[in-house]
Amino acid sequence: MIDRIAQLRAQAGEAIAAAQDTEALDQLRVHYLGRKAELPLLLRDIGALPADQRGAVGRTANEARKAIEALISARSQEVQAQELSGSLLADALDVTLPGTPPRPVGRMHVIAATQRELEDIFLGLGFTVLEGPEVETVHYNFDALNHNPNHPARARTDTFYLRTEAGPGDSAGEREPSERLLLRTHTSPMQVRAMEAHPPPLYVVIPGRVYRPDSDATHTPQFHQVEGLAVDDDITLADLKGTLLAFARAIFGDQRDVRLRPHFFPFTEPSVEVDVSCFHCSGEGFLRDGSRCPLCKGEGWLEVLGAGEVDPDVYAHVPTTERNAPGYDPEKVQGFAWGMGVERIAMLRHGIPDLRLYYENDVRFLEQFGA
Ligand code: PHE
Repeated sequence: MIDRIAQLRAQAGEAIAAAQDTEALDQLRVHYLGRKAELPLLLRDIGALPADQRGAVGRTANEARKAIEALISARSQEVQAQELSGSLLADALDVTLPGTPPRPVGRMHVIAATQRELEDIFLGLGFTVLEGPEVETVHYNFDALNHNPNHPARARTDTFYLRTEAGPGDSAGEREPSERLLLRTHTSPMQVRAMEAHPPPLYVVIPGRVYRPDSDATHTPQFHQVEGLAVDDDITLADLKGTLLAFARAIFGDQRDVRLRPHFFPFTEPSVEVDVSCFHCSGEGFLRDGSRCPLCKGEGWLEVLGAGEVDPDVYAHVPTTERNAPGYDPEKVQGFAWGMGVERIAMLRHGIPDLRLYYENDVRFLEQFGA
């Protein structure tokens, strides 16, 4: 009897070691330890044995059962680990991985991205962003900005005027000349609108579309500007220069410098044109190999915008109302303003040779910029 038990134990051990999967192990468990298996039956019938054999046979049989159970559970762990790594290798699809992101369907246009970047820079300097109407009146676009009646920008060849019905109170069937409508030629009309709406101190930037009847490699009939206006009681040209230096460094690099050159605008006095030191040749005007810098044409400077101290005559065009009380007294307030072209800044920065590329919607061009 004891020999038979030893034989069963040895057989089971070999079979368990050879088992390759969980199913085979389950079958072996039934075969050796199940209710109808030889070993358990033998244990159950132990009472029928002569008394002197019961102890030894019982002990041996019990030990054999425990040993077989232990072998099965050890082998079963090994087999399960093998099965898992096998299925990980074999399954091409792992549903627990994150999905493949779809190809992005679009991105921000380089002009929109540049405009937002500019807004962020000036927000960081304490300015607020405002927007205004693209259809303007002659009053805000020219008159309130001190353009004399014969200023060339007023000409039909330089400005898109809108054909309009007579305005209320116009007897001659025509609007008052100052109430005629046009597509704004710059964002500067928002200087006066902003001052009408808010009392000083005022720190605003105004991004938006502007329109002029020009069309060539460096002019499109519609383009974008970012206007800036700061009015407080003690604002000088030095504040303008510091503000624009921060902008120039944020857009064109830490090493940049700015310079102001005298210029003329009807609504600023003094007026300046602002140059940024060339980032292509570090302001040298020539490259390391001695050749002339192609970006600044050897100048060392790039013209980026027009600016100046707000002309006192402009404050005089801002009526004092309840909304902007105490109003803009030319004797008490001072300020600066600038206007920059977004297309021009993006062109300089990215080396874009032709303005029309912005609007042709060729994705091979557009995909190079923006997030
Ligand atoms: N509006 C001017 C232009 O379009 C730029 C400018 C704005 C100049 C503000 C001075 C102050 O050319």
